Amino acid sequence: MEQLSLLDTKDYELMKAQASVRAAQLTALIRHHDHYYYELDRPEISDAEYDALMRELLELEEKWPELATPDSPTHRVGGRPLKQFTQVFHRLPMLSLENALDESEVRAFEQRIRSQLALPEEVKISYQCEPKMDGLAIELVYRNGLLEQASTRGNGVVGEEVTANIRTIRNVPLRLTGTSVPTLLEVRGEVYLPLAAFQRLNAQREEEGEPAFANPRNAAAGSIRQLDPKVAARRPLAMVCYGVGLLEGATIQTPCQSGLMAQLAAWGLPVSDRQRRVAGIEQARQYYRDLLAERDSLPYEIDGAVLKVDELQLQQELGEKSRSPRWAVACKFPPRQAETVLEDIELSVGRTGVITPVALLRPVELSGVTVSRATLHNWDELERKDVRIGDRVVVERAGDVIPAVVKVLTDQRSGQERQVPPPSICPVCGAPAARLAGEVAVRCLGGLACPPQLAEAIIHFASRDAMDIEGLGTKYIEQLLSLGLVKDVADLYHVGLDDFMQFERMGDRLAANLLNAINASKQKELGRFIFALGVRHVGARTARLLAERFGSIGHLQAATLEELTSIRDVGPTVAASIRSFFDNPANQNVLRRLLEAGVTPTVEQKKVGGSLSGKTFVFTGTLTRLTRDEAKALVEGEGGNVTGSVSKKTDYLVAGSEAGSKLDKARGLGVIVLDEAAFISMVGNSQGEQ
Ligand code: IVH
Repeated sequence: MEQLSLLDTKDYELMKAQASVRAAQLTALIRHHDHYYYELDRPEISDAEYDALMRELLELEEKWPELATPDSPTHRVGGRPLKQFTQVFHRLPMLSLENALDESEVRAFEQRIRSQLALPEEVKISYQCEPKMDGLAIELVYRNGLLEQASTRGNGVVGEEVTANIRTIRNVPLRLTGTSVPTLLEVRGEVYLPLAAFQRLNAQREEEGEPAFANPRNAAAGSIRQLDPKVAARRPLAMVCYGVGLLEGATIQTPCQSGLMAQLAAWGLPVSDRQRRVAGIEQARQYYRDLLAERDSLPYEIDGAVLKVDELQLQQELGEKSRSPRWAVACKFPPRQAETVLEDIELSVGRTGVITPVALLRPVELSGVTVSRATLHNWDELERKDVRIGDRVVVERAGDVIPAVVKVLTDQRSGQERQVPPPSICPVCGAPAARLAGEVAVRCLGGLACPPQLAEAIIHFASRDAMDIEGLGTKYIEQLLSLGLVKDVADLYHVGLDDFMQFERMGDRLAANLLNAINASKQKELGRFIFALGVRHVGARTARLLAERFGSIGHLQAATLEELTSIRDVGPTVAASIRSFFDNPANQNVLRRLLEAGVTPTVEQKKVGGSLSGKTFVFTGTLTRLTRDEAKALVEGEGGNVTGSVSKKTDYLVAGSEAGSKLDKARGLGVIVLDEAAFISMVGNSQGEQ
């Protein structure tokens, strides 16, 4: 016996040693291929071969968990899904950039700097010029060289922890390389989706009946905000670093922005291959022109050039404003335009019944995307621009908006063009359509009897900020409607397993998941439920305020106009819209059936036992890093209260700039006064203690 177990141990050690050697080989191979794929853009093996290497390493690590080092490439495959993101306080605020929209604004930027630094005319300022990547800002934290945490920018002060998703990005090193690795490095950069991947992703989504992303930035943001890292892992995101937050345990050889970038690259971090250090503003402007000319041939989306004063010493002297540094400026590119023919005008009916004219275009390439539709906004706009079928038009994509027709080339008309009058009946349901008093929009008056309004109402009801019914996307909602299974939102709660099984390509598991998600939505917060009802003018934020104020759907239903308008954010129009929604017998019926089906909206309890439990805060003056609502949410999230006026019961007064009489009163009463920074560090610490 003794002999046997000895042999076993030996075998075990031998197998483990072999596994360890193979894991090291696989790790080295995967890193080698990552380098060829991501940095050199010259893959040596197929995706399938790469996946096989990764799978083999995953299997080894599953068998021998001690082989899974913190920087193993397998961490990029995506871990377990999260329930929700946690908040991260940035130790140094993540600033944004001031924009320069034309040459005069760039000159004004340089002038401001020169006068602040009192530079003689002959001294040229060196600028580090970089592309302004169009993605989302992320902060990475490396401790002793290992990637410890990644977070979104959020509002610059508080972001969300997205480490698991960022780990899936191949060009983000899990461990820093090179010599003299810092003990702490906070590095900032932009995560983006390359154009080719963006186009592939949208083609795939359209095939699956999912809505396409409007642009690569939305696609990148959507991927990073996925709670399931496996979804992010399937999106080939990339990152470019452009700045540093805290740095401890290492010094930068050349104390300038370009030196910083060189150092980041030496630690294995990705930096832009289009960055250039120039002498003087004229060269910086030339950089802008060169980059603009190159824009269409780049494999990723950029929306301008960023000019940064190169010397860190000068940056320090120039300092920062509340939200942006004085030493940098974003020179934005003009929106991209293209010329094409407007072949037809389609009438699209939205959730609220608004009939929008949509231009059907001869397909044209615009910012890496083929554009074949563009919004014409509304009939006023269409008439003002005198848009006609057959016109040659200029279309534009600015930022994240859907393409729009910005101009008609009237001098190129042949006389054959056709005007389109506003519709008097709904193109879908045939009900009367009209322009209501004081509105520019033409609206279908058919209500929920109009299918697109119903489809959109259900899509909205199930959406993430509303009832958040996971998996119930457009594709399934359309099938529910076309099979006649759902005639209003309340019917959703009567759909059964067999109903889902009639869908194309539906399996037992998927159907059960959909049913579970529908059931789970019966107990969502009241604010979500109110938002989900789709009352005109009631967005997610107003819905939350209504939930807070009334505490139940019954109380809201009975609220008078006066009670409604007493709420912040609710003016007469919103109040009237709420009343008319609840006075409508058809809506009352749907609401009753929702409650009968077991929908019981929950009321959020204030956090009991939070670190600010029982404490009362008052805000005064202007906050610069947080909005009032954000600050209030932070206090309430920790169980505290926020009131409007200072009294003996007030525990803390948070005083922004230009604080007035409340500050005097608080001082008189001996209330503790905090400035914004002290407040942030107070709530920041209490978050950390959880
Ligand atoms: S520097 C201290 N550099 O633009 C200045 N930002 O509007 C902080 N961005 O939030 C930003 N490319 O997401 C900087 N080369 C670049 C950038 C860049 C893109 C984004 C970033 C930032 C936003 C500012």
